[in-house]
Amino acid sequence: MIDVKLESVSKRFTRSGEAAAVDDVTLTIAAGEFFTLLGPSGCGKTTTLRMVAGFYFPTAGHIHFGEQDVTRLAPNKRDTGMVFQNYALFPHMSVAQNVAYGLKVRKVSRADTARRVAQALTEVHLDGYGTRRIDELSGGQQQRVALARALVIRPRTLLLDEPLSNLDAKLREETRTEIRRIQRESGTTSLYVTHDQAEAMAMSDRIAVMRSGQVQQIGTPREVYHEPANAFVARFIGRSNVLSLPVTSAEATRVGVALPGGGRVTATAPDGHGLGEGDTALVAARPEHVVLVSPEEPDAIRGTVTGVEFTGMATHVTVDIGAGADGDVTVAAVDVPDRVDVGDRVGLRLPAERLWVVRP
Ligand SMILES: Nc1ncnc2c1ncn2[C@@H]1O[C@H](COP(=O)(O)OP(=O)(O)OP(=O)(O)O)[C@@H](O)[C@H]1O
Ligand SMILES: [Mg+2]
Repeated sequence: MIDVKLESVSKRFTRSGEAAAVDDVTLTIAAGEFFTLLGPSGCGKTTTLRMVAGFYFPTAGHIHFGEQDVTRLAPNKRDTGMVFQNYALFPHMSVAQNVAYGLKVRKVSRADTARRVAQALTEVHLDGYGTRRIDELSGGQQQRVALARALVIRPRTLLLDEPLSNLDAKLREETRTEIRRIQRESGTTSLYVTHDQAEAMAMSDRIAVMRSGQVQQIGTPREVYHEPANAFVARFIGRSNVLSLPVTSAEATRVGVALPGGGRVTATAPDGHGLGEGDTALVAARPEHVVLVSPEEPDAIRGTVTGVEFTGMATHVTVDIGAGADGDVTVAAVDVPDRVDVGDRVGLRLPAERLWVVRP
């Protein structure tokens, strides 16, 4: 097992003043780790992955596999296994021939190839499928063949670019569990790319949240969810409410803010963010931590319900609280009285222990 290091890696496709597709990215994927690049379309995920694979060379910066500098090494010298969105399997070959492809290129003996292909098919739970044609398989099975083909060469790193996007919702969830199981068993250092935050949270050891070519935050799923570094991460991961509130007091890691309803509450600001009295703080609150109360309750934030959405697990109630917030506040309540409806006046309470001050 090896770690993978990106040091100040940038990629510009044009000489003109256009923004870099990947802008000064520094991160380390620990040996055996399942690491995900997460961000909206066009933020530079695929470009970053392609530089790790060797399909693009960085405009600046360095990439190391363990001790080896691979920045300008040809892709076929890197020992990477790749899995793509569109499977990229050979449709005219059988499952076994597809999986054997990388071994054939590496001139592995016939006996060893047969043994390793059989083992790889067992690992992805496709025993007995070796002689099938690719077009006789479901999408999920095809994606597992692609995974077997990537892993059979025993790559130093496994690179996966949106491998689940072509699958329907249920198969996507099953296949992501499978991918993670297989990755854990093989212990291969893995870089995964997705724009789906739920998928990233469910699968990853750590996530790098990207925006416009730059890394916004690197952390475990719990860290990026509960302790977002800035407003972008707070909104991109889950459905955060981000309120602009006047600061009334500031200590080292706690900031007091005034609420629209007249109340005051203290929020956690990890390193103070340099905020002082009179400044405006951006306070993030998860929908599941906002409490729906009576509008009569003292110091409640009062507003008007603009939407009620039943999701099965919870009911999302969206409340327009007027000036002071940049947008509506969404409450995800497990028990919402049936009588709450669009147009109702309601009160909201923000529990201080769950409020997190983010950077703009
Ligand atoms: N070969 C290329 N030539 C010029 N520009 C490119 C090239 N490939 C990507 N770009 C640009 O670089 C930026 C990052 O693209 P990239 O494909 O890395 O995004 P992404 O995060 O993978 O997006 P998506 O989620 O849509 O796949 C985009 O603005 C894109 O238009
Ligand atoms: Mg992409």
